[in-house]
Amino acid sequence: MRNKALLFAAIALVTMTLYNCNSTEELSQFGLKPELPAEPYDYSLKVSVLTNGVDPTFIDPNVFNNFGLQFNPNNPPITNEGASLGRVLFYDPQLSINNSISCASCHKQELAFSDGMAGSTGFGGKVTPRNSMAIINAGFNNNLFWDSRVQSVSELAVKPIQNHIEMGMESMTRLSGKLAKVDYYKDLFKKAFGTEQISEERIGAALAQFVCSITATNSRFDQRNTNSAIQFSSLESLGEELFFSPRTNCNRCHAAPSFAAPDFVGGEYGGGGITFTVGPNGEFISSAVGDDVKGTANNGLDLVYQDNGMGNGKFRIPSLRNIELTSPYMHDGRFNTLEEVVEHYNTGVKPHNHLDKNLRNADGSPLRPNLNSLEQKALVAFLKTLTDETTITDVKWSNPFK
Ligand code: HEC
Ligand code: HEC
Repeated sequence: MRNKALLFAAIALVTMTLYNCNSTEELSQFGLKPELPAEPYDYSLKVSVLTNGVDPTFIDPNVFNNFGLQFNPNNPPITNEGASLGRVLFYDPQLSINNSISCASCHKQELAFSDGMAGSTGFGGKVTPRNSMAIINAGFNNNLFWDSRVQSVSELAVKPIQNHIEMGMESMTRLSGKLAKVDYYKDLFKKAFGTEQISEERIGAALAQFVCSITATNSRFDQRNTNSAIQFSSLESLGEELFFSPRTNCNRCHAAPSFAAPDFVGGEYGGGGITFTVGPNGEFISSAVGDDVKGTANNGLDLVYQDNGMGNGKFRIPSLRNIELTSPYMHDGRFNTLEEVVEHYNTGVKPHNHLDKNLRNADGSPLRPNLNSLEQKALVAFLKTLTDETTITDVKWSNPFK
């Protein structure tokens, strides 16, 4: 009885608080303030496994060398103060029109910044038609969203607030005005940008810095190279062999080290740039103007599309880093487990006209690797070696409002 009465009191309190927040936009969220360290955390990129040891911000488009990734130059450089502000913005539901939804509602750290749902719920209870994407090394990606419609995090960062993902803030000027009334932002903007001024540009840049700082580079797959104590089991090794074999072609699309599309200029799924063909030692063989595929492919999910993706049923080839943590899978979250995904590639690829060449045999029919049950288990075991615990535990990416 007593518990019930307490529960009702709690519900009443929460309801009143919610009501108050709705009616006076300047109130900071339920009176909470972000708890930040006196010295900001270190957000600099530690990503040598992605860049083959080269400085991640080293940009020279004329250097065609090692297939390491580059930090997308359209993103802002990351500063510790900028990313710290971005962290607060990312977790603050005051960025939504009714103070109910933050970026983190759909991008949860414990799920490698995905949300475990097939579709995500926005501020008015509406559900997004596509699966919330995990945030994985996004600063290195040139093609974002399931249909690659955006080319950098910088371009993307303010879009969810304004439109398609239902945070409902139609006007960024209105958001800037709203945040100007929240006491803790003045100081944070000043530290990040030198003055207290709050603008759409600055909100976007800080969010982009935080999002770009989120990396997954410390999986067992990576640790194995520097720590001889980390060994793969025989099952994992078998899975690795299959993943990198022409029997499955997994790595043609989910290419190491990012395990995402090789979508840089010269990569197989490049964005309309020049495609290079290289020999076994990386030596230049020939070049041709590539398809404008922007890191997308048709992986044979359907004969009749519910969602056409970028066109012809092509969707972004997502990174498989942290894949163990980001179910359900595919743009519509149709598969709940990695076993189901492997089953799709083993026997379920549809013979569509637009099916990608890497999922076809020489005669054009769909690739059917005929993996036995041990091999299927092995492939799943290998995928789980790509999990990076630091992505989901590092405090610098965690919710500051608690
Ligand atoms: C209501 C749920 C929801 C909210 C809130 C939300 N997102 Fe997303 N996010 C998604 C969905 C769904 C997608 C995939 C959309 C698509 O492809 O059409 C996505 C995609 C992304 C991507 C692309 C990742 C990639 O690899 O392509 C990034 C980055 C991102 N969101 C960042 C943010 C930021 C920053 C915010 C807050 C300003 C935010 N999101 C708020 C659901 C959400
Ligand atoms: C032709 C390129 C291609 C090949 C080859 C390929 N994939 Fe994919 N993969 C994709 C695309 C494109 C998607 C996203 C499709 C969608 O959502 O509509 C995807 C999605 C996935 C997903 C779900 C990712 C997520 O975040 O939901 C997993 C897991 C996966 N692939 C594993 C594999 C494995 C394992 C292999 C080898 C057996 C493989 N892929 C071969 C293109 C490919």
